[in-house]
This record gives sequence, structure tokens and C-alpha cells, in this order.
Amino acid sequence: MEILTISGGSGLFGEVRIPGAKNSVLPIMAASVLCRGTVTLTDVPHLSDVEASARILQSVGCKVLLENGRAVITPPEFPGSAVPEPLMRAMRSSLFYLAPLLARTGRADIYTPGGCRLGARPIDMHLSGLEKMGAHITEKDGGALEVTAPDGLAGADICLRFPSVGATETLLMAAAAARGETVLRGAAVEPEVTDLARFLQGAGADITGVGTRVLHIRGRELLMGTQHAVCPDRITAATVLCAVAGCGGEVLLTNTCNAHLAEVLRILRRAGCMVSASGDSSVALASSGALRAAGGWDTGVYPSFPTDAAPLMAAALLRAQGESRVTDTIFENRFACAEGFLRLGASVNVCGRTLHVHGMDLLNGADVEAPDLRGGAALVIAALQAQGSTRVMGAEHISRGYEDIAALLAPLGARITRSWGEPCGRGCRNAGTVL
Ligand code: UD1
Repeated sequence: MEILTISGGSGLFGEVRIPGAKNSVLPIMAASVLCRGTVTLTDVPHLSDVEASARILQSVGCKVLLENGRAVITPPEFPGSAVPEPLMRAMRSSLFYLAPLLARTGRADIYTPGGCRLGARPIDMHLSGLEKMGAHITEKDGGALEVTAPDGLAGADICLRFPSVGATETLLMAAAAARGETVLRGAAVEPEVTDLARFLQGAGADITGVGTRVLHIRGRELLMGTQHAVCPDRITAATVLCAVAGCGGEVLLTNTCNAHLAEVLRILRRAGCMVSASGDSSVALASSGALRAAGGWDTGVYPSFPTDAAPLMAAALLRAQGESRVTDTIFENRFACAEGFLRLGASVNVCGRTLHVHGMDLLNGADVEAPDLRGGAALVIAALQAQGSTRVMGAEHISRGYEDIAALLAPLGARITRSWGEPCGRGCRNAGTVL
């Protein structure tokens, strides 16, 4: 188990460069299978999910080099069709391999994926869209899926009942390599979907309507190798901003895309932070650390407030004066981090999909458990505001989405050490402290 030990109670001051987005790089790595020729990606974050994705690529025959923020991927002429079960289950994003393998080889043998436990996360829209394009799907025991397209995939007119990010990405990849034209209606417009579309266009795909809810895709049998810089991670940016907002301090973020942060910046301003954006790619925030409550707001699909940032913002508001409440409209179980907030002395309660936060003057360090990726990061933000020391157990959840959250926040003066071991009562057997 990975453990973060955090000494809280100080302000945060400094500058942070935001890395490339996890939610962009993962579908783009999978889409590389569609290309004939080498794909070079830059601004690739060094994450455990990226490593897991590289292992999947290798398991189907791709050559993969990951170093210094670059991924160089060379697909074979005849990729394999089957992804081994442990690799599939390691992360939900393994589902992104379904469409490229199916399009490239005519079949995909996969397992229903793992990932964060945010409530029911069905994949029906991915599957029904592929069926419309000619795929046959057989569900087997133990979550195995056998998907075939004996006659190849054909363009179709598909309407999504909800603008799912993942389903839009699956169907975009399938359509880019299908025969004929696909019209995808009700598509997601999250920046990461746009980034995937731009990557596919760079590889030669014919896509119009990028950034809108209706995509027209004319399929090509094979795409070319290409180079692509992954877009900045708006959730990592939100994490740093919320940490500084809650603790008090000043930060300059570089390599941002400020348009993607508009809703997060709006709530931070509402809570009393001073925010100034210079151009589109850097933003400065100053906070006295004595925030006011942000009232109520909802998460929603882009351009609304991002669900992934909801626990992070809640953590920033734990000591704000008054009551804040955030309702997550996307996932059922977004606020599993509330238990950890309570252990740190916060006054919070979850009612359905709404987290209520009653600001408290003081938080105190304690042992807490990261329930999921963003909930774990939210506990780090809370711990940085708490007096004394906090241990966040199960921090491997956090490493799925942050290169190294300790190193990310270290330039601001945050005191976080990473270690690996088994918690044993009050002590902890460390196996290799790295920071
Ligand atoms: C992606 C992001 C995740 C983010 C989420 C919403 C990645 C790797 N992950 O997840 O960080 O929180 O978008 O912005 O990009 N749904 C169905 N059937 C489907 C697919 C989805 O009912 O076939 C439902 C889900 O249960 C959920 C909602 O649609 O309630 C949104 O899911 P979706 O947009 O697909 O999120 P993910 O792609 O899983």
C-alpha cells in the first residue's frame, strides 16, 4: 500500500507547470493502434494508468517507448485481438482498446474494465453504438466480452442518450476506421474528446464538427503515424488551485488552458480567491486562506463544473465561513472522501448525491483512507490545511491520475512524503521512502 504523510497548516507559494491530461493521453494511446506508422506523443504524464496502457499496447504487439514525457508507439502490421484479463481490470480506460482492436483486427477479446468505484458505470452506450456499426457482442462468464465484426465496421447514424465521454471516444475511434460515414449525435464535448479528435485528424481522419454535439466522421481504412502534444490536465490544475485556495498562498500555473478551467475559477472567485489569467495558458491565484462559503452548485457535462473537481473544491471549502453544497449529477458515489474529511475534524454530510460542507475553523491531522482517485487528492488538500500530521492510506489510487502528487505540490512548499508499507496500528513499516 502506498502512503502519503502530510504535514499541514502552512501556506503554499510558488509556480507549477501543469502536465498533459490523463484523460486525453489514455484514449490517444489506444487510438495509436489504428495507425500505420509511428505515433509520437509529447507532454505525456508519468502515471500508473499510462504504464498500464503501455502494457496493453505491448500485449497486442506494439513497440512502446515511454521516457521524458514522450511516448513513441509503433503498432505492428497485424496486432493481436486479445487483452489479458489482469491488464483489462487494472483500469477502466482499458475499455478504449475495444474499438481500435475491433476496427483493426475484426475482433476484440476483452474483459469489463476496472477503475474508480464511483457507482454503477455501465458501458451500454459503447456497445450499442458498435452494434449499430456492425459488431456482434457476446458476453461470457466472468465479465469476458467477445466482440467481432466479420464484415468490418460500417458507418452509422448514432444518437447517444447522454453525452458520455467514454462512449463518444469509443465511437469516434471506431468511426475513424469504419467504411463510410458515421454521424454521432449527442456527443460529449469535453476538452479531452476534442484532443482525441485532433489526434485522429492529425493521423489523417476526416472528422467535422469537432467541439460540437454532432460529429461527422468519414472512415479511412488505416490512419498514418503522427505527432501530437497532449492537452494540459485541467483536473491537475484544479487540484493545485484548490490546495492553494484552501491553505492560503499564491500560485502561478503555467501550461494551462484557461478556457477549460472557467467554471472552477468561477467558484474559486466566489469563495474569495483573487484569480488573474494572463493569456490562455497561465493563471495566477492568491488566497488569504480565510475563504467564504461558495453556496450551492452542480457538476455537469462540459462546459459545466467538472465532476472530477467536485471533491477537490469541497476540500478547499472545509474551513470556509458558512455552508457550501455541491451536487454531482454524473456519478452516484462521488463523495466517498467525506468519511476522511470527518476524521480530519471537518463538518460535512452526504445526502444523496449532494455533499454539504459547514466550514470549521480548524482541521486536525489523522489517518485517512483514499477511497478513489479524486477523493484521495481531496484528502491531500484537506490534510494540507490540517494542523499536525496526516497519513493518507491507499494512495495508489492517487498515483493513477497524478505523476507524483508530492512532487507536484513540493514547489509550493507542501510537505508530503511518499512511502510504501503496511499500516500497523499507530506505526508503519516503511519500504522505500522516496521523498
Ligand atoms: C470520463 C473520465 C472521468 C470523468 C467522466 C465524466 C476518462 C478516462 N475518465 O469517464 O474522469 O469523471 O468522464 O466527465 O476520460 N454511462 C452509461 N453508459 C455508458 C457510458 C456511461 O450509462 O455506456 C454513464 C455513466 O455511468 C456515468 C455517465 O454516463 O453516470 C458519465 O460517464 P462518462 O461520461 O462515460 O464517463 P467516463 O468516460 O467513464
